[in-house]
Amino acid sequence: MESLLIKGGKPLCGTVKISGAKNAALPILASVILSRGTSVIHNVPRLSDVEVIIEILHDLGVEIFRREDHALVCTVKDETSYTPPRELVQKMRASICVMGPLLAKRKKAKIAFPGGCVIGKRPIDLHLKGMQHLGANIEMQDSHVKLTADFLHGTKMFLGSAFGSTVLGTANVMMAAVLAQGRTIIDNAAREPEVEELAKFLNQMGAKISGLGTNILTIDGVEALYGTEYYIISDRIEAGTFMIAAAMTKGRVELQNINPLHLACVVRTLEKMGVVIVEDRDGLVVEGQDSYFPTQVCTNPYPGFPTDLQAQLASMLVTIKGNSCITEKIYPQRFAYVAELMKMGACMQRKGASVHIHGGTTLKGLTVFASDLRASAALVLAGLVAVGETTIKHIHHLERGYENLQAKLSLLGADIIYE
Ligand code: EPU
Repeated sequence: MESLLIKGGKPLCGTVKISGAKNAALPILASVILSRGTSVIHNVPRLSDVEVIIEILHDLGVEIFRREDHALVCTVKDETSYTPPRELVQKMRASICVMGPLLAKRKKAKIAFPGGCVIGKRPIDLHLKGMQHLGANIEMQDSHVKLTADFLHGTKMFLGSAFGSTVLGTANVMMAAVLAQGRTIIDNAAREPEVEELAKFLNQMGAKISGLGTNILTIDGVEALYGTEYYIISDRIEAGTFMIAAAMTKGRVELQNINPLHLACVVRTLEKMGVVIVEDRDGLVVEGQDSYFPTQVCTNPYPGFPTDLQAQLASMLVTIKGNSCITEKIYPQRFAYVAELMKMGACMQRKGASVHIHGGTTLKGLTVFASDLRASAALVLAGLVAVGETTIKHIHHLERGYENLQAKLSLLGADIIYE
């Protein structure tokens, strides 16, 4: 199952149920390390990245049972280990999320520098800066960082880089601060719904975090956290990908199990391009049109246009007559998909952190190579509208972040099979 074969030209029609949010599930699962007792976490997507965090947690003494209904039952059984296995950490950037919980609960963490999608520089200096502010000693070794602290203390800190706030950095510091002595204030905290979701989960376990959904988080340390039951929000990036697919293929797709508020900027962007989007009781209906307008888009931290939908939007823009431009403000190198779309006939030019698109091309199906998760999704979208057959190689990237994408697209009428 290393490639997907798509015969383009079929409009997507029908209903799709969006899965739980990968980027909420990963830190929430890591935060179980902080707790006593059992937590039941519902709506956890079945993805390879989730399998990686489960393996890491097993190794760190957390017992996890997967139920048939997308729920995970998690209990900390053994608190002796503080070193997640290097080979697992290097598979996925989000494994860095165990750092804060280990430091806060087990007083030390030794962790390899994480891997993950190759989308440009992904340092962890802000995570470390936050931990240092909370009182951690930090030793950098060749491929590891070791953090120790007999106790953490609350403090005020500004967490940001030239690229804005940090999602996992905010999550990590917040998880360390919940058991610190006193009050921590994180200024310039990430406001992404997945960060808010983690804060809600921690509060349900007994933490005292306020300012949820804003860029100033106040965390009053508590003595202990306890197991709880929680239902994870749906994946706004999966939803956005299906919205773009519906529009591109000129189909009609109803998205269920979503929160339209989390998609406001995506809805506005697509509507400006001429896509018709109707909000109904259960979600959103995207109605494709015969033609669309080109546009200029800049990715930004939430509530701006998400970097995780940049490649998919570019795929759509290459098919729209006129000049469009996308500027990437979070990961200025996140354009690995451009060369593959150009092979399919797209007329695009990369200039620094922007890609200029001379749209209106009829894409041609051929063999292309996926380089990372969202680039893979962009190539799938291109394949859905290309003339002829598109083979996408290295699709294991897709399985990191899209649950059953092939099956969901097939149900909507796409001609897409594993090869
Ligand atoms: N940054 C630093 N230093 C740090 C941390 C980040 O300079 O210590 C920079 C990054 O290099 C980047 C910017 O700050 O330029 C923002 O990075 P951020 O830390 O917010 O990214 P992340 O937390 O590692 C999460 C998502 C990504 C998503 C970004 C931005 C998860 C598991 N990952 O990554 O999701 O692109 O936020 O929204 O939550 C994906 O799902 O495909 C994906 C890559």
